[in-house]
Amino acid sequence: MPNAIEVRGLTKRYGPLSAVEQIDFNVEAGTVFAFLGPNGAGKTTTTEILEGLRRRTGGDVRVLGLDPWTQGYALHQRIGVIPQDFRFFEKLTPKEGILYYGSLFGTRPDPKSLLARVDLEDKADSHFDTLSGGQKQKLGLALALTNNPEVCFLDEPTTGLDPQARRSIWEVIRTLRREGRTVFLTTHYLEEAELLADQVAIIHHGKIIASGTPGEIIRAHGRPERLVFDAPPALGEYLHSTLGVATELRDGRVEVSLESNRDALRILSAVDASGLPWKGFSTRTETLEDVFVRLVGPMDDGALKSEVPA
Ligand SMILES: Nc1ncnc2c1ncn2[C@@H]1O[C@H](COP(=O)(O)OP(=O)(O)OP(=O)(O)O)[C@@H](O)[C@H]1O
Ligand SMILES: [Mg+2]
Repeated sequence: MPNAIEVRGLTKRYGPLSAVEQIDFNVEAGTVFAFLGPNGAGKTTTTEILEGLRRRTGGDVRVLGLDPWTQGYALHQRIGVIPQDFRFFEKLTPKEGILYYGSLFGTRPDPKSLLARVDLEDKADSHFDTLSGGQKQKLGLALALTNNPEVCFLDEPTTGLDPQARRSIWEVIRTLRREGRTVFLTTHYLEEAELLADQVAIIHHGKIIASGTPGEIIRAHGRPERLVFDAPPALGEYLHSTLGVATELRDGRVEVSLESNRDALRILSAVDASGLPWKGFSTRTETLEDVFVRLVGPMDDGALKSEVPA
């Protein structure tokens, strides 16, 4: 598939502040791309440059082969946008809003079917200012789809929504992908990125610090899988001295790194032989959120090392 979005050496300065510094990435057409990063990392700046709403300082950007800044008019016919903190005319209804958007694009959208897509038909005739936060976001999504866009830019579409409302927006995103559209998503919910995204890029202080599929990022930056025992710290010391495995005390539990599945059998036998009391165990695999927090968070992640890894 060709790339729907191509970014080369993109830089954006606001006076002395370098908000985005020489970033590169591609988004293949028909995929979901999640752009992640802490507050102020440069996500909205990048997103709005791609949408043709902000002018870049340097580098090259193409969306559907077009330069968003100089070919914005042609591009806007083909993309859909939900800005961060989406707001709308307070006294317009969702139905009126969709017809209004249609008039801007010179099309005659069907409000009923667009509102059905986002499960908002029952609010078709309610004023915007009477909608709940989740319903407003759903309207934003319906408006973004009014012109049947090839690329959808969704800047934090699920922020502040309850778990059910978030899931219904995930379903719409999955449908957009199934229809062959490209979705450029920013979010602070790492679980959402892990579930929805084909490719992820993490931006921090204006630079991309990790990119790939969620699995690739976890493998490259995550810790190995671990067995977690609800047991006294002495168990960690015992396992380290008898088996030479790396152990850690974390949140009052003993964690043991697993290099292979055979390790699990050896470790469980040793735990049994130790005679130490233990209440139960579970396995722990790193999530994108674990990796994200380690990459962008404070250096001290709260782990108390009981043993130095072999
Ligand atoms: N119009 C502007 N003028 C000056 N500085 C700006 C402007 N817009 C953004 N910035 C600064 O650029 C940096 C990146 O901001 P941006 O909005 O792109 O971050 P973000 O990753 O979207 O953050 P958040 O997760 O909080 O939405 C921040 O330091 C911000 O203060
Ligand atoms: Mg933002």
